[in-house]
Amino acid sequence: MATMTISLPAATLAISEEIDRRFDLLLAIPDDPRAGLYRAMRHAAIGGGKRLRPLLVRASADLFAVDRECSGRAALAVESIHVYSLIHDDLPAMDDDDMRRGKPTVHKLFGEAAAILAGDCLHALAFEVLADPATHPDPFVRAELVLDLARSAGPTGMAGGQMMDIEAEKARFDLPTVTRLQAMKTGALIAASVEAGAILGRVPPEGRTGLRGYARDLGLAFQIADDLLDAEGDEALAGKKLRKDEGAGKETFLSLLGVDRARAQCAMLVDQAIAHLHAYGREADLLRQIARYVVERDH
Ligand code: IPE
Ligand code: IPE
Ligand code: MG
Ligand code: MG
Ligand code: MG
Repeated sequence: MATMTISLPAATLAISEEIDRRFDLLLAIPDDPRAGLYRAMRHAAIGGGKRLRPLLVRASADLFAVDRECSGRAALAVESIHVYSLIHDDLPAMDDDDMRRGKPTVHKLFGEAAAILAGDCLHALAFEVLADPATHPDPFVRAELVLDLARSAGPTGMAGGQMMDIEAEKARFDLPTVTRLQAMKTGALIAASVEAGAILGRVPPEGRTGLRGYARDLGLAFQIADDLLDAEGDEALAGKKLRKDEGAGKETFLSLLGVDRARAQCAMLVDQAIAHLHAYGREADLLRQIARYVVERDH
């Protein structure tokens, strides 16, 4: 398919506005005692974040000329899981953070109970949106989207990785174990974002190898960049508290490799991610730009 390559800033702005609009429509505040719950969800979900995962859904789906309403709904579902994971990650029982996306965390503003429930609701919302016929007319496509996102969020994916991450403060993990931890904690949802585009595009699993390789390497590079930012970044730009990993004695790519090797590993993974897209032409340029952005980002 011959396409004009949209610039990364333009694509990011467009998907960010779209995701804000979709959350705004889905999370209208009711005039009853649940109002605080909706306010908490809106605080976390609207107006912040890089929207990397929605952008990946859209960029992947666009390769296969998927209807934008379908990919926009799938993008919202993945971001909904991500936002829930951030709300819970910031809770006192987990990372105990006060700032997220440049704003106070949900539990700071609305209390812990509302934060837990807001996370629960965003988790449920993701699957409600995917299972809705508006996401795709074919129930088999919807079921595959649900299955893949569920696997990426549960004990074999994000939540399992979060548990290992907690253990990483006490245990001495080697590089393969930390790689597995990060592939689950961060990589799984990034992989599900790219996969959603292929599912919507009705690409058979054997046709997804390149995209899967891209997503796997991108996810690891992204988490190494997060670890590097934690060590060296600017808190005002990041919008969250930094220099937490070393203080917590957490085993990360950085603690195992040191700054220079971690940065080199991140760059190598980005090159490898891009190489996985060799079968695609200009239509995959946005995915390539996203990969390059991952090493250069400052927030
Ligand atoms: C932060 O994710 C948590 C990780 C998985 C590293 P992002 O860096 O994508 O956070 P936002 O969405 O831009 O706030
Ligand atoms: C959290 O990882 C990843 C999630 C699954 C939410 P971190 O704890 O490193 O994320 P930040 O640094 O708080 O964004
Ligand atoms: Mg954490
Ligand atoms: Mg955290
Ligand atoms: Mg971090």
